[in-house]
Amino acid sequence: MTATLDQRARSLRDLRISVTDRCNFRCGYCMPKELFGRGFAFLPRAELLSFEEITRLARLFAEQGVTKVRLTGGEPLLRRDLERLVEKLAVLDGITDVALTTNGAMLAGKARALADAGLTRVTVSLDALDDDVFGAINDVGFPVARVLAGIDAAADAGLTPVKVNMVVRRGVNDHCLLPMADLFRHRGHTLRFIEFMDVGTTNHWTLNDVVPVAEILRTIEASWPLQPLQPNHQGEVAARYRYRDGAGEIGLIASVTRPFCASCTRARLSAEGKLHTCLFAAGGHDLRALLRGGASDEEIARRLRSIWIARADRYSEARSPLTARRPKVEMSYIGG
Ligand code: GTP
Ligand code: 5AD
Ligand code: SF4
Ligand code: SF4
Repeated sequence: MTATLDQRARSLRDLRISVTDRCNFRCGYCMPKELFGRGFAFLPRAELLSFEEITRLARLFAEQGVTKVRLTGGEPLLRRDLERLVEKLAVLDGITDVALTTNGAMLAGKARALADAGLTRVTVSLDALDDDVFGAINDVGFPVARVLAGIDAAADAGLTPVKVNMVVRRGVNDHCLLPMADLFRHRGHTLRFIEFMDVGTTNHWTLNDVVPVAEILRTIEASWPLQPLQPNHQGEVAARYRYRDGAGEIGLIASVTRPFCASCTRARLSAEGKLHTCLFAAGGHDLRALLRGGASDEEIARRLRSIWIARADRYSEARSPLTARRPKVEMSYIGG
């Protein structure tokens, strides 16, 4: 099969699938309470793609070269029986990696079933280790211990290496870098420090809130010397480093100070079946209309190819105070 390339010669390798736009947390940088309150109109059930519809699309994406699928949300574990979807995706020809990005709140009770269904690994978001700081960030007072229990359960179930995502914000949790690193050293988990991004339009992002990865690196390195590692695969989002004392590795995700658009092979499917060719796109291409309108596999495949061929996105490389104010899809809708 010849790979379909976009306008910048990037192939289509990863598919991020959002399975719900709901979440049980209200992180201010993603779903601020004032906007995502009781009255907020989340997608009605009938508008979400069914597991069968998602699987059909994933099979067609795999035929276009996708090898890696990541389930996201909102919070994907809020979607009932998610393991049934994992089971269907894990056996698709060409798909070698089925991963999940979760807030970890419900992971302790789900990890075993997900692993049995064929999930390969999980990434858990955790921004602090202190209950006061973390409770204020998730804004529902959710305790750290239950997320840590989820991480342990995932490791016990073999969903390894477990990755932990920490979004670092100036004055909010930048004092937590060393305690976080210290906790996950020697445990086989990979802690990833993420620069706060201007995703969506509701998180009041400013450049002053961003802690550049160069600064994060200096802070960690002052306690534990690091050595850079080669990427696991071409286009990996995180730059990898190992602790020189053998305590494991960390990742740095520098989408603001060192954008990685040039090697971006990711497509994103929203819970209602819109295909977004960039995290920062204002809108998506409606694939649900095709699915529900009776389109054949060949018609859908042709559409996927034509969308990818037309793709020219490079938002993070072009970021400026002006682009930050452009209309963009919300993080909770597209899953990061
Ligand atoms: P693996 O490398 O497979 O472990 O996963 P990942 O790092 O691609 O996925 P994850 O959901 O853990 O994302 C980590 C962070 O990187 C999140 O903050 C994402 O929003 C961000 N991210 C992932 N893909 C992109 C991308 O294409 N563009 C930008 N700007 N950020 C991204
Ligand atoms: N900037 C960077 N990362 C973010 N995430 C959510 N919002 C942002 C943002 N504004 C992270 C989540 C999750 C991942 C999918 O994206 O914490 O780990
Ligand atoms: Fe939920 Fe994750 Fe958004 Fe927080 S960042 S509100 S956990 S989807
Ligand atoms: Fe890819 Fe868009 Fe992120 Fe650039 S900003 S890496 S094009 S998703």
